Amino acid sequence: MRILVAGGAGYIGSVLTPLLQEHGYQVDVVDLLWFGNHLPDSIPIQKRDLFTLDAPDFEKYNQVIFLAGLSNDPMAEYDPAMNFVQNGALPPYLAFRARQAGVQRFIYASSCSIYGYTENELYNEDAPLSCAYPYGISKLVGERGVLQQQESGFSTIALRQGTVNGHSPRMRFDLIVNTMYKAAMTEGRIIVNNPAIWRPLVDVRDTAGAFLRAVQADNDVSGVFNIAYDNFTVGQVADLVKDAVETHTGKKVLVEVRNQADCRNYKVDCSRARNRLGFQPQYDVRAMVANLYAHHASYGDLTYEKFYNILVFKQLLERQSNASTKAPCAG
Ligand SMILES: NC(=O)c1ccc[n+]([C@@H]2O[C@H](COP(=O)([O-])OP(=O)(O)OC[C@H]3O[C@@H](n4cnc5c(N)ncnc54)[C@H](O)[C@@H]3O)[C@@H](O)[C@H]2O)c1
Repeated sequence: MRILVAGGAGYIGSVLTPLLQEHGYQVDVVDLLWFGNHLPDSIPIQKRDLFTLDAPDFEKYNQVIFLAGLSNDPMAEYDPAMNFVQNGALPPYLAFRARQAGVQRFIYASSCSIYGYTENELYNEDAPLSCAYPYGISKLVGERGVLQQQESGFSTIALRQGTVNGHSPRMRFDLIVNTMYKAAMTEGRIIVNNPAIWRPLVDVRDTAGAFLRAVQADNDVSGVFNIAYDNFTVGQVADLVKDAVETHTGKKVLVEVRNQADCRNYKVDCSRARNRLGFQPQYDVRAMVANLYAHHASYGDLTYEKFYNILVFKQLLERQSNASTKAPCAG
């Protein structure tokens, strides 16, 4: 089976694509390489804007996995217009082209952030959605635009991932556990803005496992699936990261609690993914931290800009804007 992974050079794709290869799938990646290329040489990669793909580009594929777009709130808030185009329009466009070309399944990387602010209830996939911020709205628009193209012979699956954490060859330190790990390691202190709010968390190895299960699911499986190891309060996450870092380093870590409001607060029920996809997450917060610590020497300075999507993204847009304002003078 041949799979196109759109945006496969990012944080999740850099763990998922080798896993797919290990399981015997032929994998190709199309990616603009905003964050460089950390994929093994065995994975063919085209540096290309996904908007330029047309139906013939999909003809050799059985399945498409979508991992592209703007992948967090700060990027979405920095350029809301680009966010709505990349997250809202691109996934349905690619699903449309894939369907035209006879692809059998389109798997979309959705996000639990579309649940918005909930009143501490456990939400399954049929719960009402209340997000009112650019990233969440755009991920929901993308999800709906993909799912509504499902038809006989064309399965559409949306994996609503909780916050993904842990080590990837394309590393990010702007995700909750990774950020707390960085703070504990570099400053000996974790700041918690609001200890009471809930977040579903998942290790990047487990989320890659969820995509693998979606690839392998029966042809008649379509729909939305929540993907997380479990739900945690932010206060709990801080304590778990603190304990794990103290165990690894033997140094004390402080947790400093502030009480700031947050527009996101959600707990999700993942039983549908367990029952229909066979999703079985293995890695808790302690295991996420253990894997970060095992790779610690490879990171260099944890405060490098390359680890923070928003910093790389701002530079990218500034370079593009400078290039476009210079162009007329050059002529
Ligand atoms: N990381 C998380 O915690 C998380 C949680 C829920 C959902 N998601 C979703 O999962 C997906 C992958 O997340 P990630 O953390 O790997 O993101 P990432 O930012 O590390 O990777 C995104 C990749 O997409 C590429 N890209 C973006 N737009 C493109 C375009 N038009 N053409 C070609 N390439 C393009 C970028 O170059 C980058 O390599 C995203 O859609 C994100 O919204 C992520």
